[in-house]
Parts: sequence; structure tokens; C-alpha cells
Amino acid sequence: AATEFTRTPVTVTVTGAGGQIGYALLFRAASGQLLGHDVPVNLRLLEIPQGRAAAEGTALELQDGAFPLVSSITVTEDATAAFDGVNIALLVGARPRGPGMERSDLLEANGAIFGPQGAAINTGAASDVRVLVVGNPANTNALIASAHAPDVPAERFTAMTRLDHNRAVAQLAAKLGVPVSAIDGLIVWGNHSASQYPDISHATVHGRPVTELVDEDWLAHEFIPRVAKRGAEIIEVRGSSSAASAASAAIDHVHDWVSGTGERWTSAGVVSDGSYGVPEGLVSSFPVRSAGGAWEVVQGLDIDAFSRARIDASVAELVEERDAVRALGLI
Ligand code: NAD
Ligand code: LMR
Repeated sequence: AATEFTRTPVTVTVTGAGGQIGYALLFRAASGQLLGHDVPVNLRLLEIPQGRAAAEGTALELQDGAFPLVSSITVTEDATAAFDGVNIALLVGARPRGPGMERSDLLEANGAIFGPQGAAINTGAASDVRVLVVGNPANTNALIASAHAPDVPAERFTAMTRLDHNRAVAQLAAKLGVPVSAIDGLIVWGNHSASQYPDISHATVHGRPVTELVDEDWLAHEFIPRVAKRGAEIIEVRGSSSAASAASAAIDHVHDWVSGTGERWTSAGVVSDGSYGVPEGLVSSFPVRSAGGAWEVVQGLDIDAFSRARIDASVAELVEERDAVRALGLI
């Protein structure tokens, strides 16, 4: 017998839907891996004119997937329509750095995207809206979007550092010859950039402290740079930036946010409440758990001098980005 879903569909909007992350992400959202195998979804695909045809093609393929959970598929270039009633907003589309573009040009170009999208979310989103920013520079784009959505609690705007977290877990598991599931307590701090700090000082493997099993030389000269520069490594090897792994991390982030993590930790870019000396209001990666549909920062961890210096360096970069977008009048 055909399955009928009586639950109200959840509206999921993906920006940059015609791009490579969108292509991987939408199929997993359609299959139930984002929100659960009993939750129907309305998929809204937002693009700009240059990406419209690709998004239309993705929509045709989504239809051809005959996903029982998909209630509707809409392709639009209108942010107001895309975010009207949205519950889950995945902000993937961003302006990549072009030839001759300075960092401030990049921030300004992205401000022109994430400001209006934040405003459209403010106007039209459902009261339970949750936003994940994937498009780079993700942390600062989340800050910009949030600044344009004064009626949406700031903690509903998050930035993706789950890919960095997953990369760190995978590298550590490979080094120790254990399954990824044996590892807990890993943290990525700071910015989704090469300044990020993947921190193993609280990590355990099968309950045993990882610091007993690896030496500081490997940590400082192999693990940390490998994880922090993995995005560049993928671009070099694959010829374009990570897509399926980025989509997978976005699925993990939203799934954990909505469904909860239990006692397990993960990492997410969330608005700082001043914890661990990170200036209040910055969107920075922290150790987090999710309960009741909200992220909470894991509190009370000892931060040694090695970690302190690295957290401070990445947070300093976030402060610089914030000051730059403030100077441009984007927040
Ligand atoms: P892509 O170029 O394949 O796709 C991006 C799409 O966004 C394009 O189709 C483009 O037309 C669209 N777009 C641009 N501006 C838009 C707007 N204003 N509204 C709607 N759509 C818009 O890129 P991709 O590989 O899918 O990557 C997307 C972004 O994700 C990039 O910024 C990339 O750097 C970032 N990224 C982040 C992480 C992370 O861990 N946070 C990981 C990988 C990639
Ligand atoms: C990644 O971490 O894979 C991406 O953020 C890299 C990039 O620059 O798009």
C-alpha cells in the first residue's frame, strides 16, 4: 500500500541550488536524511539567472527520483518567494573570489547576497526558522544575514564547520587505526578558514584520551595543517571545491540540530555568548551539543596555552572580518 504522510511538510530552501553542493544536498534532503524518514518536505530552489537552468535541471531530476517525502519542488530567482514560510534555510550560493578581487571586494559582494537574504528571512520565515550558512566566508556571511534579520533570534543563524569537524575525526581515526565512531570530544574552533583550530586535547578514543596516543609534533605539523588546509587539498586534487562532503556535513549539521546529539559533541559555527573568551556576537566554531532543537556550547573545558594561542588567532581573523563588513556598512 502507498504510504501517506499526514505530517505537515517542512519547507527547506536551498540557495545556490544549481551549484555542485546543491546537487548533492537536495537529493539527500529529498530522501529523508536531513529531517527524518517520516518528514515530508517542500523543496525551494533559489538561484540567480546564470544558475537558473542548472537548478531547473536538478528539479527535473528530483522529480524523477520519485521521492515519497517530497511534497513540492519550486525553482525561483525571487528571495522573498524562496523564504516565505521557510523552516530550514540552507544558504549555499555565494560569490566566489574572482581574478583581481581583493578580500574587501569579496566581503562586499557577499554582503550584497546575504544582507537581502537575511532581510527576506526576517520578513517571511516561519517562527521556527533555522539557518545554516555554507557559502564562504561562511561565518561572516552568517553574521551579515543575522544582522539583517533583527526579528529572528541570532542563535538561529549558524555557519558550517561540520565539514572541518568531520575531516578532523576522519584524519584522527586513520592515524589511530580505529573506526570514526570510536572518537568523541573533538573540537573545531574559530573560523571556517585555514586559521581554524582542530583541537584533540579533549578527544577520546574508546574512552581513552587521544593525547596519550599521539605526539605533539604530529599534532602541530601534520594533523592541524592537514585538516585546516583540506579544502585547498580537495580543490587541488579534484579540480573544484568539495561538494558531496560539504553537502554531507550540511545534512549532519541540520539533522543534529533538529534531532539532538545526546551526550556526543560536535562542532558548529554559532553566535558567541562570550564563552571561552570569544567576543560576544561573533559567529565562531565551538564544541556543541544539541538538545530541544537548540545548540548549546559545551562549557567548562580547560584550555591550555597551545590551544589558547590557536583559538585566539582564528578568532582574531573573525574580528577582522567583522570589522571589515562593519566598515563597509554591511552589518
Ligand atoms: P557552485 O559555484 O557550484 O554553486 C554556487 C551556486 O550559487 C551557483 O549556481 C550560483 O549561480 C549560485 N548563486 C550565487 N549567488 C547566488 C544568490 N545570490 N542566490 C542564489 N544563488 C546564488 O559552488 P559550490 O561548490 O556549490 O559551493 C558553494 C559555496 O559553498 C561556495 O561559497 C564554497 O566556497 C562554499 N563551501 C563551503 C564549505 C564549508 O565547509 N563551509 C565547504 C565547501 C564549499
Ligand atoms: C572547503 O572547506 O572545502 C571549502 O570551504 C573550500 C573553498 O574554498 O570553497
